[in-house]
Amino acid sequence: MYIIKLDAIASTNTYLKEISLSKTPKDFTVVVADKQTSGRGQMGTHWQAEASKNLTFSIFKDVSFLNISQQFFISMAVAMAIVDALNEFQIPKLSIKWPNDILSENKKIAGILIENVIKQNKLLGSVIGIGLNVNQKIFNDLPNASSLHLIKGVLFDKDEVFHIVLKYIEERLKSLNSENFRSIKQQYEAHLFRIKKPSTFKTPSNQMFSGFIEGVTDDGKLKLRLEDEIIKEFNLKEIQLLY
Ligand code: BTN
Repeated sequence: MYIIKLDAIASTNTYLKEISLSKTPKDFTVVVADKQTSGRGQMGTHWQAEASKNLTFSIFKDVSFLNISQQFFISMAVAMAIVDALNEFQIPKLSIKWPNDILSENKKIAGILIENVIKQNKLLGSVIGIGLNVNQKIFNDLPNASSLHLIKGVLFDKDEVFHIVLKYIEERLKSLNSENFRSIKQQYEAHLFRIKKPSTFKTPSNQMFSGFIEGVTDDGKLKLRLEDEIIKEFNLKEIQLLY
């Protein structure tokens, strides 16, 4: 593991992605920044994190052993690794809001942004970006956000949390192979927020509908049971779970 510590950068994901375009970084290169000036979230959103209080880092992982169609297993493995690490800190009621937001008591405490490096239709590497809210106390305009500190009422040693999260990510990614795909997916689905519960969704054109989350497909679509027992699959651009 190679750890590069930066005071400030636009985005650790952008930084690692740019490096990986010209020269493949060493497997498991980690870039961590105290402050990101343009932190990026999923679906083109901005990742807000108060400087120095939180963990914002990205990992370059060689994933050339996976097929393009197996990309979502990286996401499931990383989400489960964060759950493993947070369990070690006794963070209560952990769940994964599809596809990979980590919640505690229904509040988001971590987000994952995975950007894969694909060349000539082959998966080469994965830039795995993680934002984990550690000691931040106030989340203006983010009513569904929280931090380890707000949940447990104590200040955390950021470096300790960082190393424990890295340990579990390394473990989960090293053991990722087609033999344990079923078990990873089972564990991921068992942690899915609102699994088998009636939930409300919104389409990009603001239409609301309800359904039961049944699980995910191997390529990361959300499987919903709709009226008349119809099972339908949705990708991230098609629906948003309201909570
Ligand atoms: C999300 O929930 O929308 C994903 C958030 C991912 C944020 C992390 S912070 C470190 C890395 N660098 C970025 O610009 N984004 C990811």
